[in-house]
Amino acid sequence: MSATRSRETTLLRFLFTLALGLFIAASGSHAQQSAPETAAGGEVNIYSYRQPFLIAPLLEAFEKKTGVKANVIFAKKGLIERIAAEGLNSPADLLLTTGVGELTAAARKGVTQAVVSETISQNIPARYRDPEGHWFALTRRGRVVYASKARVAQDAITYEELADPKWRGKICIRSGHHVYNVALIAAMTSHLGEAQTEQWLQGLKNNLARKPGGNDRAQIKGVYSGECDLAVGNTYYMAQMMLNEKNPEQKEWAASVKMLFPNTGGRGTHVNISGMSLAKNAPHKAAALALMEYLSSDEAQRIYAETNHEYPVKDGVPWSAMVTSWGSFKADEIALQDVAAKRKGASDLVDKVAFDDGPSS
Ligand SMILES: [Fe+2]
Repeated sequence: MSATRSRETTLLRFLFTLALGLFIAASGSHAQQSAPETAAGGEVNIYSYRQPFLIAPLLEAFEKKTGVKANVIFAKKGLIERIAAEGLNSPADLLLTTGVGELTAAARKGVTQAVVSETISQNIPARYRDPEGHWFALTRRGRVVYASKARVAQDAITYEELADPKWRGKICIRSGHHVYNVALIAAMTSHLGEAQTEQWLQGLKNNLARKPGGNDRAQIKGVYSGECDLAVGNTYYMAQMMLNEKNPEQKEWAASVKMLFPNTGGRGTHVNISGMSLAKNAPHKAAALALMEYLSSDEAQRIYAETNHEYPVKDGVPWSAMVTSWGSFKADEIALQDVAAKRKGASDLVDKVAFDDGPSS
């Protein structure tokens, strides 16, 4: 290793440790529980688009089982670019994402490597993993419509209907460029074609109550406050609101809405995934593989189901009682690769109709 490379490595590791320290300082009790008293088992570095509190219970269970300490760097964006920029010196072992788009983007950017694991192949059905082994789904979530209990009588809806003028000024949704909406619009493009999807997106924009902004929960709050009658959001947010002791006002937001699974009488509700990829230059490859296998296991899938109220990808793992209470639904069976392939076109449509400018433009 050259002196320059060595200095770069030292600097990168210092920055990583610093960022990790800041994260640990900010994350309170989890940090204490994952203190390195089990360092004998090694460590694994996770770059995560998933929020730390969602993965903390899984990592704690993994650490307890294996003695491998899991370090997490969380960011809302830029992690894939960061791994690419870090190159050979990247400390990243595992990438955790909130959508299929990020997984395929990471593979395309060349920051992932193929994984061949009998255990993972047995645990995760083929339709939820990359045939080349560069990414694997861990959980599924529906993108549903939250409707006002007080003001919306109907108990069924389609995505297409969101563009119906009868909803003029009544719909709240986050930015069209957010990965959750890009995936939904990409799936619409697969089903309807680009021209019809553009019309649909324009119709939906015309029906917005306000400029897109905020997260999924902010849209549901909009229904609660009377600003809109319908909000688009992922399924697990219902549980996060209903069980929110830190912000109990969110329980009221949740109580004001009913969850409608769009198109469940037809092609099915759009479902996206969270997932994982092994980083191309993972310095702790064996530990990362062990974690990947663990995350696909019954135990981890059950934690995802019970703690995060997502739908497991492993067959036979039961849904949480709360998720079960939302009822069964038909999931859109479109291949995840198709959705990922249409993302660029979907994103272009968002710009073309100036979706994020809101209803008045
Ligand atoms: Fe989310």
